[in-house]
Amino acid sequence: MLNVGIIGATGYTGVALISLLINHPLVKITLVTSNTYKGKRISDIFPLFRGLFEETLVPTDDDHGDKCDVYFLCLPHGTSMATAKTLFNDKSVLIDLSADFRFEDLSIYEKTYIKHIAPELAKQAVFGLPELYKDKIRGAKIIGNPGCYPTSAILAFYPLLKEGLLSGDIFIDSKSGVSGAGRDTKIGSLFCEVSEGFRAYNVGLHRHEPEIQKEVNKYQDLQVMFTPHLLPMNRGILSTTYSRLKNPYKTSDILDLFKKTYKDEPFVRIMDEGVYPDTRFTRFSNFCDIGLKTFEDGRIVIISTIDNLIKGASGQAIQNMNVAIGIEETLGLKTPPQYP
Ligand SMILES: NC(=O)c1ccc[n+]([C@@H]2O[C@H](COP(=O)([O-])OP(=O)(O)OC[C@H]3O[C@@H](n4cnc5c(N)ncnc54)[C@H](OP(=O)(O)O)[C@@H]3O)[C@@H](O)[C@H]2O)c1
Repeated sequence: MLNVGIIGATGYTGVALISLLINHPLVKITLVTSNTYKGKRISDIFPLFRGLFEETLVPTDDDHGDKCDVYFLCLPHGTSMATAKTLFNDKSVLIDLSADFRFEDLSIYEKTYIKHIAPELAKQAVFGLPELYKDKIRGAKIIGNPGCYPTSAILAFYPLLKEGLLSGDIFIDSKSGVSGAGRDTKIGSLFCEVSEGFRAYNVGLHRHEPEIQKEVNKYQDLQVMFTPHLLPMNRGILSTTYSRLKNPYKTSDILDLFKKTYKDEPFVRIMDEGVYPDTRFTRFSNFCDIGLKTFEDGRIVIISTIDNLIKGASGQAIQNMNVAIGIEETLGLKTPPQYP
């Protein structure tokens, strides 16, 4: 059995991790932390865990080094890298859900976020998008789990990028449910501020654009333009990506390329021609669904959906753990999407 610790277990991603890991056949959650709720049972804060998982929360700020085989860090950026420094050792695997270990080039991280205080760890970190980097994730000791929007966007155009087929800039129009902002009180996330409305936010400023751009730069010299929107729903992301192909292709040919690229990937589902993804069919699951259409003049539109808390965060983190440790990639992640 793997002893697993969830650092920052009281946020949305921490709760999603517990919900998934209590059904993982090779995992025992032995550590859950919170500064705000230390000393309380997690099931007292979140009654959904009554009778299922009733561990007591211990302070995040205590020293938890050497206690677990795997640590999931579900903390805000900045806090995460400080904690990672105290937890890192030869025996454990650290999987960070914040942005702190997603950037190979720390100058981009520092321009986008803050000064990095653990550059020696960042150098060893692997960007944890298993569909692209499985070989590097195997055996990795520290993994930077990708952002939710970047996961939905990069998977949507990776097959084209890899083959060098794109010729135009990439426009990504993403819509997310409110849980993407975390559980902290924020005015913009209050019911009356979100329900019955639909708005773009952080236009031209969102921190996930550099994360997507640095992945694009590895393959083709193309500019990304990313605009996030807030949808009045709890969870889910739908990204619509527009670009241009170097030559016109039939929709069926590009769908075949996507199916071939992802044929060994258990969590990417390519829709048939004329069928497009719907957030209702990826909710609570680790799937990314992708549908697309090409046009005679070379334009292409690609639509992808994920659950921001599962494939966009905690599910992908478990997928990364499974790959890193060398166990079956889908363990603990076989939950089908929950419908309706
Ligand atoms: N929400 C998403 O869809 C999503 C998707 C991908 C990645 N992420 C990233 O995953 C991380 C966690 O996100 P989340 O949505 O779970 O956030 P959240 O709901 O706001 O929870 C944050 C957690 O961090 C703890 N925390 C906050 N400030 C802290 C500090 N200064 N020191 C120590 N602990 C602190 C909180 O614990 P206390 O109980 O002690 O207050 C809580 O457990 C973030 O970096 C986020 O950007 C989130």
